[in-house]
Amino acid sequence: MGCNTFLCVLAIAGPLCAANLTGNWVSIEVRPDGTESRTYFDLKQDGTRVTGKIHAQLFYYPDAAGTYDPAGVTLDATGREGSGVRKVRYTIKSDGDQLHITLAARGNHPPVELIAKRAPAGEGAMPARIAPPPLHKVKWNGLAKTPPMGWNSWNKFQGRVDDPTIRAIADAMVSNGMKAAGYLYVNIDDTWEAGRDGAGNIQTNRKFPDMKALADYVHSKGLKLGIYSSPGPNTCAGYEGSYGHESQDAKTYAAWGIDYLKYDWCGAWNIYEQRDMQAVYQKMGDALLASGRPIVYSLCQYGLDEVWKWGPEVGGNSWRTTGDISDRWASLSKIGFNQSQLAPYAGPGHWNDPDMLEIGNGGMTDVEYRTHMSLWAMLAAPLLAGNDLRDMKPAILEMLTNREVIAIDQDKLGKQATRLSAPDDKEVWQRPLADGTWAIALFNRGAAQAAVSFAWSEVARHKKPKSVRDLWTHSDLKLDAGTEFQASVPSHGSVLLKVRP
Ligand code: GLA
Repeated sequence: MGCNTFLCVLAIAGPLCAANLTGNWVSIEVRPDGTESRTYFDLKQDGTRVTGKIHAQLFYYPDAAGTYDPAGVTLDATGREGSGVRKVRYTIKSDGDQLHITLAARGNHPPVELIAKRAPAGEGAMPARIAPPPLHKVKWNGLAKTPPMGWNSWNKFQGRVDDPTIRAIADAMVSNGMKAAGYLYVNIDDTWEAGRDGAGNIQTNRKFPDMKALADYVHSKGLKLGIYSSPGPNTCAGYEGSYGHESQDAKTYAAWGIDYLKYDWCGAWNIYEQRDMQAVYQKMGDALLASGRPIVYSLCQYGLDEVWKWGPEVGGNSWRTTGDISDRWASLSKIGFNQSQLAPYAGPGHWNDPDMLEIGNGGMTDVEYRTHMSLWAMLAAPLLAGNDLRDMKPAILEMLTNREVIAIDQDKLGKQATRLSAPDDKEVWQRPLADGTWAIALFNRGAAQAAVSFAWSEVARHKKPKSVRDLWTHSDLKLDAGTEFQASVPSHGSVLLKVRP
């Protein structure tokens, strides 16, 4: 190992002579699913100055820099996190053969200790940018004439999803009546991936020993199977993405019998800019069409770049309109009540997606979950349950399978609701339905029970209707002689009406 004279002089006794950090180093953490999470440190030491590139699975820091010190080199690294900047600090000590590295605590994350060994030069380098294709219009695949319905693993299981869980969820969806109510797709989110074989074919990790067999099983139940990937080299959870393998992956999905792809931008931040999104999504849209299998294409890039304006152009059947939902009222209400201006962009074949359902995950009250369902139905949102379908209380199952509410979501006209009024935390929304009726929802976002009202002259056909049905109590309401409708709505609650003018 070369010894820099300056360092030897500084160190006197010599241990630092072994401490030239120049080279490529890798720290490997083996996950329970057998996959590896790798962090590469491609370092250059020049005197006491250390610079380099750090590639930490999801995050890439192209310009780390620090100064050598006997106590350890402190490298400050700047990379991207979403559309923003991410700064981290690594402290590195060498024992000659290995680096002992500490990633400093950040926010709620405690420090992380790593050990890195020498790696071949170039291994783990961020791949070069592949120019995105010129824009064109991708033909509609004819799918998702009404908003997709099903289940997705992420909200409840994150990295704990596996083959037996998917099978059991499919079983539950059939036996508990959800399939009969319209739920169809069973979607595996992130963490199913392993690396690629020598021919570049994506592999599944040991949680999913045979994806084709799993698809066959899900199909045998009359359901469809969905999967997840990213246009970047890696996914949000740091697993293998589809970058540079788009058409190969689309063919693999088709061969496995996959029916739905959620395509999550995440790792693409390390390669592309926001202005590249349309072309990058178009690439997979083309690849899915060319695969010859009907595959629902669900765009997930958090509503950036006004995706609703170009989602259909890239063959998208839905596009996320926001960042991730969480199982809290603040998250649900912030996302759900902020969708009115997107109504013009939804319609048969392509839908705004305010993210998956949290109903039944335990962080909200039943009243709030009912509002979740009411609002998502009004928004013509994909209804992807996100709870453990094997284990839910009757009230949650009843909410998820309320056919009158589902019928609003699935209405063939496909017109998303708009907000009519929102005085003091009380909101009234409406949407026209294919049979000439209207859905009207009353919401109370306030902290106390409140009367929420609207005038018949403001809604539907601006006339007092013939009949009004309450879709949560399943009852036809008696209207009084007045010109207004009023309901007492609990805090965070909703009333959902179907009105026949
Ligand atoms: C992103 C998406 C989530 C989920 C995770 C998986 O955060 O928005 O819905 O797919 O990635 O890593």
